[in-house]
Amino acid sequence: MARKIKRIGILTAGGDSPGLNAAIRGVGKTAHGYYGMEVVGFRDGFRGVVENRRIDLDHSALSGILTIGGTILGTSRDKPHRMVIDGRAKDMTGVIKANLKKWGIDCLVCLGGGGTQKNAFRLHQAGIHVITLPKTIDNDVAMTDATFGYATALGIATDAIDRLHSTAHSHHRIIVAEIMGHRAGWLTLGAGLAGGADVILIPEIPYDVEKIAEAIGRRSKRGSNFSIVAVAEGAMSRNDALVFEIAEKTLKRAKTLNEKLEAKREIAALETRHQGNTLRLATQLEELTHLESRVTILGYVQRGGAPCAEDRILATRLGSACADLIDKGEFGVMVAARGHGTEPVPLDQVAGKLNLVPPDHSWVQAARRVATCLGD
Ligand code: F6P
Repeated sequence: MARKIKRIGILTAGGDSPGLNAAIRGVGKTAHGYYGMEVVGFRDGFRGVVENRRIDLDHSALSGILTIGGTILGTSRDKPHRMVIDGRAKDMTGVIKANLKKWGIDCLVCLGGGGTQKNAFRLHQAGIHVITLPKTIDNDVAMTDATFGYATALGIATDAIDRLHSTAHSHHRIIVAEIMGHRAGWLTLGAGLAGGADVILIPEIPYDVEKIAEAIGRRSKRGSNFSIVAVAEGAMSRNDALVFEIAEKTLKRAKTLNEKLEAKREIAALETRHQGNTLRLATQLEELTHLESRVTILGYVQRGGAPCAEDRILATRLGSACADLIDKGEFGVMVAARGHGTEPVPLDQVAGKLNLVPPDHSWVQAARRVATCLGD
């Protein structure tokens, strides 16, 4: 019997990151060019599958995108099981399943971070053939050695720290650089180590502002009257971390709907208050050290521009491995980076889990050995 030509769909979801187009190209060129499959790209994440907004990813569509930042498909943070349609949150899983069947899509390839892994797992549980690739500048996806986007963002944040050294020592100032990473400290720890930051604050090691001030004071006494503080956007003081922990435990213990809503409101209020944390930290350090301090929030610059060579290679090899799995009919997995190879990891081992910095990680030990203050 003639082998049915496979047709696959690709979507990008969650925050954009360098390397997404390289990954789309890796999956698409291998599937289309090597295996003769048809490839469709859905626009703006899972919403594009619901609304049938798509483009054919043929040879010409896949040419010239390796080095382009962002995603040619567009992205969104829409969730299939709770998608806002006409102002109301609806479960669109059934619509997605029916549409993919109607269009003869044999597998939906989802490129995304932690949230996308969870959403793809839900579709897998609903009987839809999915495969995911680990994308995020945060490097916080579980069960993979690396995520594409991280290496490029690491280079951007390191370059920023290098540049901030000039103004810090010219003005004898404390420069506090806020770095992305959501609830993980990989980007801040890596850029802080590579950029020679004097203080590195990550969510995994809650800090004591007095200890940071003492470290900066010791530097001043040694004649270095400037300091670079690399602070993760999710880093917080010991006290704040304890308050968050209690609020999250309250949510876990909540039984009634009202208790759950109240606990979620409390966490949302804490997250809103946390948004001013970096500025408050800089003010506290200025008061404690009598050194002027200034804040630079790197923000979305860390997600912009062309992917570095490492991310292009990672995205291409994960993408081509994904097409191999589709040809073998192996679904419900994430294509994890494993050294120079790849490994299909069942989505139930990835969804809902985070890859956080272990406090005894070699990078943490190295930072301590070179007298970097980690706030504890
Ligand atoms: O997950 C990548 C990331 O850049 C995080 O580091 C950051 O906290 C978040 O996305 C920002 O989300 P958004 O792009 O929706 O503002």
